Amino acid sequence: MLYIGVDLGTSAVKLLLMEANGVIRKTVSREYPLYFPHPGWSEQNPEDWCAQTMDGLKELLTDCDRQEVAGISFGGQMHGLVILDAEDQVIRPAILWNDGRTLEECEYLNQEIGRDKLSEYTANIAFAGFTAPKLLWLKKHEPENFARIEKIMLPKDYIAYRLSGVHCTDVSDASGMLLFDVKNRCWSKEMLEICGIRKEQMARIFESYEVVGTLLPQAAEELGIPDTVKVIAGAGDNAAAAVGTGTVGDGQCNISLGTSGTIFISSKDFGVDNHNALHAFAHADGHYHLMGCMLSAASCNKWWMDEIIGTKDYAAEQAQIGADQLGENHVYFLPYLMGERSPHNNPNARGTFIGMTMDTTRADMTQAVLEGVAFALRDSLEVAKTLGISITRTKICGGGAKSPLWKTIIANVLNLKVDVIESEEGPGLGGAMLAAVGCGEYASVEEAAGKIIHVVDTIEPDSALAAKYNARYAQFKQIYPACRALFDVIA
Ligand code: XUL
Repeated sequence: MLYIGVDLGTSAVKLLLMEANGVIRKTVSREYPLYFPHPGWSEQNPEDWCAQTMDGLKELLTDCDRQEVAGISFGGQMHGLVILDAEDQVIRPAILWNDGRTLEECEYLNQEIGRDKLSEYTANIAFAGFTAPKLLWLKKHEPENFARIEKIMLPKDYIAYRLSGVHCTDVSDASGMLLFDVKNRCWSKEMLEICGIRKEQMARIFESYEVVGTLLPQAAEELGIPDTVKVIAGAGDNAAAAVGTGTVGDGQCNISLGTSGTIFISSKDFGVDNHNALHAFAHADGHYHLMGCMLSAASCNKWWMDEIIGTKDYAAEQAQIGADQLGENHVYFLPYLMGERSPHNNPNARGTFIGMTMDTTRADMTQAVLEGVAFALRDSLEVAKTLGISITRTKICGGGAKSPLWKTIIANVLNLKVDVIESEEGPGLGGAMLAAVGCGEYASVEEAAGKIIHVVDTIEPDSALAAKYNARYAQFKQIYPACRALFDVIA
């Protein structure tokens, strides 16, 4: 049988067709626009997601036996607010995970309701990208839209709804709404009350590997596949990526270098970071995870290459950086181009270069961008260490993971062994694997991961280089506190 994974990302939807044994038969990608209607705001049109997903699916299915397709599932950009009216029509553009407009609402939630209460109800505190602060923003700034809300959905769940007709979500993605009791895997009645939301406005909750329904006849007809194809709930993109890299069970780590950058630590048991710098979310394998999320990771490199130096040849730029230059760079880059989530929780933070001299080269600046992202990931790893979590190796996925140089920098800055698996298609592959589990091909997500995911290479940190980067990190760490007050003035 064949299984489809839909990775509904921020720059594009990536579709993947997987055979039952895990072999990837084909991948297809379709881009859509991202709108910044105001500095620090970030929106997308759910209709663009649907149109490009359907178009991409048609191409994905062109040369396979369509009768063999058994299931479809998802990994989706998290936290985005999609609101539907009484006719199930989208009320306004989706407000995305990297949107920073809710500073006031987060302050209200964290200060007035209080971090302790939020953490007790949801295992998390308010961050600007989370869904609940967006609802409060809408209530204040667009009361007419707020009054029309009949259903509150997350991005991938809107696609699942369009395919199956079911208003559904899964535990991992629901965790990022700040409306979900992560420990007990149900909606938090306290948080719904605080946000003025009725339970009927929320979607039905599923485990990520559970069947939500089957394809609506018109969707099946449009795609030319049977209407018995099962739609499986899927997961937030980070949990799906973790499945797609085999980061399941206890104490495993995955780094995702996509538009965002995340460090994801799986756990069999529920646990909370006492300072709430790391998110405590449900995992797609039926258990839990902790996660640090930086808002701009591979997108910093893309911005630097496309917008500033004006090239598409990323590899040629990186080829200018010799091995002997690693650990020697005097230029630092704070990668906060969209503000920052973990661990600073500051939508006003901004991208910053510091340390240039007359002999600084373009290659030094490129290197600083790659290193800045690695240092910022280490910030979250350091928080995990304070919780007594010991990590010695990590998997890696996402577009940035295609760069051997960036993987080497990450291995040495974080002083971790970096295990590379065959495909860096984390969320798409994870989505297809969840579909296979939902259709009964594998007994559990862990069994699927054990059989499908294999490490093909490991990048070992070099002790001398890791020591140099350790000293550099001690300097990097001082830059944000020194700039923080200024960021507020600039914003
Ligand atoms: C996670 C987060 C991002 C998005 C990116 O909390 O906000 O990783 O899911 O798609």
